[in-house]
Amino acid sequence: VPAGGTHEPIDPVRFLGNRSSGRQGVAVARAAADRGADVTLITAHVEEAVRADAVHPHVTIVSVGTAAELSEAVTRASDDADVVVMAAAVADYRPASAAERKLSKEDGRLTAIELVENDDIVAGLVAARRSGQTIVGFAAETAADAADLRERGIRKRRRKGVDLLAVNDVGEGRGFERPDNALLIVGPGDEVVAEASGTKREVADALWDAIASQRTTGR
Ligand code: C5P
Repeated sequence: VPAGGTHEPIDPVRFLGNRSSGRQGVAVARAAADRGADVTLITAHVEEAVRADAVHPHVTIVSVGTAAELSEAVTRASDDADVVVMAAAVADYRPASAAERKLSKEDGRLTAIELVENDDIVAGLVAARRSGQTIVGFAAETAADAADLRERGIRKRRRKGVDLLAVNDVGEGRGFERPDNALLIVGPGDEVVAEASGTKREVADALWDAIASQRTTGR
């Protein structure tokens, strides 16, 4: 379970990042361990106090910083994983090069940062998926309404090729940095297989119910 948000360095003191706290991914990892799974939790910039919730004899925690580091760690851990829940917020782009020394206003180089695209990690996992392996993606969307959220989820699940996609409404006052969450889980037949809301742990349990059901019945 990759969780948290990557930081892409601009110079030694600045980075491009996002508002993911890693709470949902940590809850997903912990819920799996409580159900008896052996879990590798890969955290990108998750606060110690949040990571503490995942401490469990069956959880191995690996810390990474950038999308490239996350990609390497995920590729390694997914080799013998039955399920990958890609809950991390991965930067789509990184600065083309990170300056070795702190950039200053005087350099005039802070007004435009050239970006290059990061690999889509989940696309790589889907391309390399073994038979019997389940790949679950997350999507953070700012949707107009419930129907729009569902449509976006269906389109994104198809585009990503994941078995299940958990769609998260992150509009004003929802999703990121909060203890509660609400998710739609879209399945392989473009149907909503579950809707969950509540604490991030409750949502994580609903997600594992959906994953278990998909793995046993295909629905
Ligand atoms: O396209 P979008 O970023 O909304 O897709 C989100 C899903 O794709 C998440 O599961 C996220 O972890 C994954 N992702 C990825 N590599 C990227 C960007 C997103 O694996 N470079």
